[in-house]
Amino acid sequence: MTQATSHRPLRVLITGGGGFIGSHLSELLLDRGDTVTIVDNFSTGRRANPEIVRRVASRCDRYRVIEGDVSTELPRLSPLDYDCVYHLAAAVGVRLVVEKPIHTIETNVHETSVVLRFCAERSLPVLIASTSEVYGKGIRVPMSEDDDVVYGSTGFSRWCYACSKAIDEYLALAYHREHGLPMVIARFFNTVGPRQIGEYGMVLPRFVAAALEDRDLEVHGNGEQSRCFCDVRDVVPVLPKLLETSACHGRVFNIGREESISIIELARVVIATLGSKSKVRMVPYAEAFSAGFDDLTVRQPNLTRIREAIGFTPRILLQQTVRDLAQEMSQREASGSHAGHVGHGPRDDQHKQGATPCRS
Ligand SMILES: NC(=O)c1ccc[n+]([C@@H]2O[C@H](COP(=O)([O-])OP(=O)(O)OC[C@H]3O[C@@H](n4cnc5c(N)ncnc54)[C@H](O)[C@@H]3O)[C@@H](O)[C@H]2O)c1
Repeated sequence: MTQATSHRPLRVLITGGGGFIGSHLSELLLDRGDTVTIVDNFSTGRRANPEIVRRVASRCDRYRVIEGDVSTELPRLSPLDYDCVYHLAAAVGVRLVVEKPIHTIETNVHETSVVLRFCAERSLPVLIASTSEVYGKGIRVPMSEDDDVVYGSTGFSRWCYACSKAIDEYLALAYHREHGLPMVIARFFNTVGPRQIGEYGMVLPRFVAAALEDRDLEVHGNGEQSRCFCDVRDVVPVLPKLLETSACHGRVFNIGREESISIIELARVVIATLGSKSKVRMVPYAEAFSAGFDDLTVRQPNLTRIREAIGFTPRILLQQTVRDLAQEMSQREASGSHAGHVGHGPRDDQHKQGATPCRS
């Protein structure tokens, strides 16, 4: 694979390419001339996303959508037809994770194993999407890639997301060490922006949707827990840089923003930015989720490693993200396009097999 500076068009496979981050990544890669195939079961991804990508991407004959589970569809594809893979498909969202732990664990561990085997056949470079949740409760702030991790009890199902993603990391690193697979792990901190949906527990789209309708913004716990939000349009250009820089292979990278904000302050920023009449309503964790819900007070990345490897300076301010998400959400509402479905987890009756090439 070439270094990031000299780009030749690539044939790229993106699992979860119909989702929030995956659709922005598809757009970026199509714009620079790559051919993009996505595999998505639209369990949490919106079916409208590929339509949006088709509209904005200049060459949509280079865009192909395969609807189905990764584990069903990948064995039908040949690794010879691709130059690299971005594995973004996963069970995501704190609400989904807490309510559907079996689905979460099975999706995150099994599908990643299928992707890694597929890539190992031809030593295809692969980026594995991981999460800041892997740090668990965190032993220090800001969090660095080689920190030890501490998780809560297995009695709290919220930790199954962190543990399943940690297994993904172990597995990918093991493929690198045992088989020389060129892989990179991207540990996303809170990534936000247009096309994100709130149905599965993502806080910013939940707040923006409420503010647009002047409803109460529900802040869970005491609201003092803080997070670092980075715009998806700052995040996605980093992903091909990581995967196409061979010095990054076999390594884990934090991706996010260093500025942190408490969730109660985030609610106030959303209300002020959108000029909403909404109020903030405090909701105890036990009411929002289940008794004994375990949360993290702080999650903040140390970005030294990624800065040294490829350079990374997020530029889009939170207020801009809030405005752009609100505008896109209003358009979404007007066009009646919502998530693939609003249930939690894949709907088997909706899994159409086969490819849908772009026609427009
Ligand atoms: N958005 C964030 O803040 C954030 C933070 C940390 C990690 N991540 C990771 O980034 C990746 C993308 O997340 P996102 O925010 O875009 O969420 P998303 O829900 O929009 O994207 C995930 C996509 O994967 C698809 N999918 C799920 N299971 C599948 C399966 N078995 N087969 C095929 N497709 C499947 C979903 O339909 C969805 O389109 C995930 O791996 C997630 O864990 C995201």
